[in-house]
Amino acid sequence: MATNHPRDTLTVKPSPVQQKTQRFFAPCPRGLEGALFDELTELGAIHVGPTDGGVAFQGPFTLGYRVCLWSRIASRVLWQLAEDEYHHEEDIYEIARSIAWPNLFTAQELIRVQVDAIRSPVTSLEFVTLRVKDAIVDSFRAVQDERPSVDTSMPDMRIHVFLTAYTATVYLDLAGEALFKRGYRREGLQAPLRENLAAGMLALKGWRGQMPLFDPMCGSGTILTEAAMIAMNLAPGGQRPFAFEKIRNFEANVFDAMRAEAAAGAKPLPPNLLFGNDRDVDAVEVTRRHLQNIGGEATASAVTITNVPMETLAAPAPTGLLLTNPPYGERLNELADLKAWYPAVGTWLKKTMAGWKACFITADRAMPSGIGFKPSKKTPLFNGALDCRLFEFELYAGSRREPPKDKTA
Ligand SMILES: C[S@@+](CC[C@H](N)C(=O)[O-])C[C@H]1O[C@@H](n2cnc3c(N)ncnc32)[C@H](O)[C@@H]1O
Repeated sequence: MATNHPRDTLTVKPSPVQQKTQRFFAPCPRGLEGALFDELTELGAIHVGPTDGGVAFQGPFTLGYRVCLWSRIASRVLWQLAEDEYHHEEDIYEIARSIAWPNLFTAQELIRVQVDAIRSPVTSLEFVTLRVKDAIVDSFRAVQDERPSVDTSMPDMRIHVFLTAYTATVYLDLAGEALFKRGYRREGLQAPLRENLAAGMLALKGWRGQMPLFDPMCGSGTILTEAAMIAMNLAPGGQRPFAFEKIRNFEANVFDAMRAEAAAGAKPLPPNLLFGNDRDVDAVEVTRRHLQNIGGEATASAVTITNVPMETLAAPAPTGLLLTNPPYGERLNELADLKAWYPAVGTWLKKTMAGWKACFITADRAMPSGIGFKPSKKTPLFNGALDCRLFEFELYAGSRREPPKDKTA
């Protein structure tokens, strides 16, 4: 039974919250918090604070639009609606019930509640999920007959609750579908990288289109496509819808202006900047289609893509950044194949790629010793649930190749 609450009035004003500074949280792949901090700061966020798995920030409400449109690294943009202390489940219901939900979206929107917790004393996250849903429904019922329905697969509004030991924070997800879903990937190949992980690695290596980039095992071309979008100054969210467009008081004129500004700033992709290769012909075709999806044939044909075993390739330029995601060898027989293949990779790097910086993201810690190079840098990164390392090798002419000794890099 719904109880009366001081906020139980439907008061949709023309401009509800936009003027006030708002709090946001942007989750990202673990290991990219620093890169996301820099990106958010550049986009105009204030009080930017990285934590494990994401970055908190503040700014006007419309900064949420801008980050959804422009962040290459964030997975979502969560808008903070309430935060308070709690001791048991019913306190979390009250925190959620204190929010004037009918002022945020209509009862026609399908909702999904997701609860995550770190060191929370609550015994059932499912029960908390149910109580937060109850709070939203009760909030609607207090002012009107209709209530939103739950849809966990294709919701319009995602409500996220984050519990620590003492505090519950309620967020509305401004993105909708995760931000790494840019809209250009319409077909899958095995083991593609997440788009925001690829963009994050380019950011970690300081790549902004100023030097040649080469992915000799490009698979579906995620690294190349993200690099093309950076070089062309294309907004990563320019081709997709966002949940915030369904929020009441959505300022369409503000967002239209942001999109128009983004479209006006796009540049063609220069030739001889991006180079890709894969020994699998299907991979090469999918890569081309992904490049076409972001910028048409002009973009795809500006990228040189070959279809040979990497070890037979010449360097595409005297210097540049090689960034790639080799097979991981997750299955035992693949691991044996990988170990047998690594020395050939080392020989190829030494003979062919002197003058380049080479970066490999892999879950196989023995990769550097396998190829016989000592990494100049290793950065822990998560590819989904896989605990990976981004190994960097400086390839000098004359070589700093070392005998294989570092077994557990
Ligand atoms: C893990 S996948 C790369 C996925 C890619 N980063 C993406 O996002 O789609 C590894 C790729 O390396 C390719 N590959 C493996 N060994 C190769 C070799 N010796 N030469 C060229 N390509 C190779 C495979 O065909 C596969 O497409």
